[in-house]
Amino acid sequence: MTYETIIVATEGRVGVITMNRPEALNALNHRLTSEIGTALKAFDADEAIGCIVLTGAGKAFAAGADIKEMAPKSFADVYAEDFITATWEALTVTRKPVIAAVNGFALGGGCEFALMCDTAFAADTAKFGQPEIKLGVIPGAGGTQRLTRAVGKAVAMDMILTGRMIDAAEALRIGLVARVYPADELMAETMKAAAQIAGYGLLSVLAAKEATNRAFETTLAEGVRFERRLFHGLFGTADQKEGMAAFVDKRAAGFTHR
Ligand code: CAA
Repeated sequence: MTYETIIVATEGRVGVITMNRPEALNALNHRLTSEIGTALKAFDADEAIGCIVLTGAGKAFAAGADIKEMAPKSFADVYAEDFITATWEALTVTRKPVIAAVNGFALGGGCEFALMCDTAFAADTAKFGQPEIKLGVIPGAGGTQRLTRAVGKAVAMDMILTGRMIDAAEALRIGLVARVYPADELMAETMKAAAQIAGYGLLSVLAAKEATNRAFETTLAEGVRFERRLFHGLFGTADQKEGMAAFVDKRAAGFTHR
């Protein structure tokens, strides 16, 4: 597959997708979001991949939906094509973990992309915001919902209503990102974490992601019941036998992802 707007690479069991329209701060146009969807699907289907990293080339992770592409659209256009949902939501159905390595601006749809990933690590120079209000619209890729669940109502309202940008330190403090690194260490550190995840048994990694995401979709009692069933199910895997035997034998586990 030849891509025009992303770079796709692998390192061991980690797949890396780099958004690559640096001249437009990786603004998310139709081509770019479609290509990300295609690359995610391919990594999800590839048994040799255990974790995915999404990052951006240049000084932005992504500065949001492509305003130049979006500006002339009418209500009929966006409703008929189901703008956003149609190509953007591949991230939300990817079963393997996706880590956002936020290297710079993550604004509008860029911030929403980071929120769709399973966790986010940021460069100390990264900036986050939902500035759609300044364009006469509102977040349209889940920002009002995922940001609110991630950081709570007061902070989400502040960001969404004022459109103000926050820096990486504030993003860490409010729980929008899990880790912050000096900009020149971000990729190496993210790859280390991704390789660590990819080294664990894939079935337990998929189950961990699925169960954790359930927390956003259901009641506590149902979520705990769902978790318990997946936990029980993992006792039917070779990796559970290997992981626990390795602990008892005081040796490193050799997971086979079965
Ligand atoms: N769409 C299209 N082009 C964009 C873009 C975007 N979201 N963001 C930046 N660019 C382009 C600029 O137009 C500029 O192109 P030209 O050189 O051809 O003029 C190039 O990228 C560099 O940008 P700037 O010159 O503006 O760079 P800067 O360093 O001065 O400013 C910035 C950086 C503050 C991020 C500024 O570019 C900016 O405010 N960008 C728009 C951010 C935004 O509003 N995002 C929300 C989009 S709406 C959305 O995402 C909806 C949704 O929920 C899905």
